[in-house]
Amino acid sequence: MSIIYQEAEQSFILHSKSSSYILRITKNKYLEHVYYGPKIEQPNVNMMCKSSFRVSFSANPDEDASFSLDTRPGEYPAYGNTDLRSPAYQIQLENGSRITDLSYDSYEIIKGKPKLPGLPSLSADEKEASTLKITLIDSLIQLKVILSYTVFENEDVITRSVEFINEGNTKLKILRALSMSVDFDHYDYDLLTLNGSWGRERHMVRRPLVQGSQSIESRRGASGHSENPFMALLGKNTRENHGEAYGFSLVYSGNFLALAEVDQYATTRIQLGINPFDFSWILTPGETFVTPEVVMVYSNQGIGEMSRTYHRIYRNNLMRSKFKDKERPILINNWEATYFNFNEDKIKEIAKQASELGIELMVLDDGWFGKRDSDNCSLGDWYVDKKKLPNGLKGLSDAINSYGMKFGLWFEPEMVSPDSDLYRAHPDWCIHVPDRHRSTARTQLILDYSREDVRNAVVDMLTKVLESANISYVKWDMNRNMTEIGSALLDENRQQETAHRYILGVYEVMDTITQRFPDILFESCSGGGGRFDPGILYFMPQTWTSDDTDGVERLKIQYGTSIVYPVSSMTAHVSAVPNHQTGRITPIEFRHSVAMAGNFGYELDITKMDEEEKKYIKEQVDLYKSIRRIVQFGDLYRLMSPFEGNHSSFLYVTEDKKEAVLFLYRVMNVPNAPLYRIPLDGLEPSYQYQIDDGDLVVRGDQLMNYGLNEPDELKWGDFKGKVIRLKALV
Ligand code: DGJ
Repeated sequence: MSIIYQEAEQSFILHSKSSSYILRITKNKYLEHVYYGPKIEQPNVNMMCKSSFRVSFSANPDEDASFSLDTRPGEYPAYGNTDLRSPAYQIQLENGSRITDLSYDSYEIIKGKPKLPGLPSLSADEKEASTLKITLIDSLIQLKVILSYTVFENEDVITRSVEFINEGNTKLKILRALSMSVDFDHYDYDLLTLNGSWGRERHMVRRPLVQGSQSIESRRGASGHSENPFMALLGKNTRENHGEAYGFSLVYSGNFLALAEVDQYATTRIQLGINPFDFSWILTPGETFVTPEVVMVYSNQGIGEMSRTYHRIYRNNLMRSKFKDKERPILINNWEATYFNFNEDKIKEIAKQASELGIELMVLDDGWFGKRDSDNCSLGDWYVDKKKLPNGLKGLSDAINSYGMKFGLWFEPEMVSPDSDLYRAHPDWCIHVPDRHRSTARTQLILDYSREDVRNAVVDMLTKVLESANISYVKWDMNRNMTEIGSALLDENRQQETAHRYILGVYEVMDTITQRFPDILFESCSGGGGRFDPGILYFMPQTWTSDDTDGVERLKIQYGTSIVYPVSSMTAHVSAVPNHQTGRITPIEFRHSVAMAGNFGYELDITKMDEEEKKYIKEQVDLYKSIRRIVQFGDLYRLMSPFEGNHSSFLYVTEDKKEAVLFLYRVMNVPNAPLYRIPLDGLEPSYQYQIDDGDLVVRGDQLMNYGLNEPDELKWGDFKGKVIRLKALV
């Protein structure tokens, strides 16, 4: 049983594979958090609820109705009562009051996991998971709040979300509705977040918790390049393969807040959800508001096991594309090869030569529609530019298919250029505020997806194009953030709903299009990795990790991304040198070894490569095909971090431990460097592993305890990478 209600102690005990999560109802009907941590099979809950003396109001909720919530762990803390820490929610009444008081009402335990209406969420069948729903009620205003917890029995995963139901007769205004709050009784933790910028996404940032609030957030209308909707608490000694890690990942693609608050009593409150900044939501009588879902992962085997849990659960229970378990095609994209300057012959030539090297999919990027010869026009005009493609998409895709290749296409369907037929016809279809300047970014505005008419028009436009040719893949781009946020169709008191309604609209359109075209592989993109989040992965099983294709930069970007996101979702391309983002020149071998550690492809003008380079590419394409199942779907062990030194290393191991692929990198050479050996991980200790089909055979325990010696090839010159295969001789 993964969810137990203990009548005597009025508590709920949630058991995942190796963690327990406990909450209880106090005598005066508050819902109190008790514990989240390593599994306790038969907890004595009463013993865990003792108050220590604190200079405050009285502190015992079971003895004194005037007790101070400030000294107690809360489960979904309110604003305005004696808990003066960060509230999980706040609601304004028609009379202006922001005080609500939720008391425990009832609970329900159900098998499986209900879907969240209108929002992406994990799914689970009755054998995998059970769900606890706890209903809280504010009887003065007839507000019902339902906290949902789904426990995955064979994983260390608990999901949380919240429903607000207005059962009263007056309007309520939600000012804050976070998806979760959890209190830890100390702050002896480090906080791990994934931060960066365009071209430098998801770098790992680890810092000690200190008293006060520390948070990351997005106010951009998208999850963003600079912060990712994820946060983890790590024990002070936690490393990749040992120690405690608590991950909190939000299945949402818009403005978010992730907060860690350490209070005066040295307790830590973790919260995650829609950013309350510039957000409010009117809940009329009878209406329900549902928050996005948080996926909490517990690991007592370090950051690595937390990541592997996220990878499994996101591949198996979040992504719903039929491609989620399929090996992904090796693609070539023309963006860095041609930018806007291409025609049918050029694309056909790239595709033809690529197909001869074994590349499987040709992606036509930006510039095929309207009169788009630069990025200052035509978004919204999704009809083919016949000057560039005289035979249309059909002619081009047929030609590409005749080379034995699949054809893919770029769109940016959430945007409109002021210089477009669409904008001229519907100037109010973009996000804007009346009488105010409409700031453009990359000379474009954002279509107002909170509007049904806009969504329907976009769906029609996309459907028409996708039905017009044999399109096997779509790159769905999104290249700017929100400014002057407002919607022409929303009432004045609902304008702060715009950003969330926009994301709900994006989800609706993505839902319709991906369901209507289930045989198309969708890849999301947002100026590279500006919307790499679980919300989008639900619809599209892979994301363009970053516009930065420089091998050195990519080591950090891919390492950081893999903290939460599965390798199959992380696309990685070999591009030309000097690199278009950094100007750095690295050898083709290094660029291949870095890109092959992800979902592999190319982004260069293959027609400009000499025969020797092409021969090399063909060999590498063959190599990747032989290892891609292991890389994309194996268990990832990060062995050396690019954030900590000159070396980095990833190891991918099959579930049966019989095969593995090791990626080893040394960025700069160091004269007279110390000897390096790289202890591996995740192997079967008793198996004998053959290294690279050669004479060297080593037992798993030696490979994990002693390791492999650094190969000689890595010791001369800069920017070195090597791919090593291991096969168990069993
Ligand atoms: C931004 C993307 O990240 C690039 O890969 C490319 O598709 C451009 N947009 C095209 O405008």
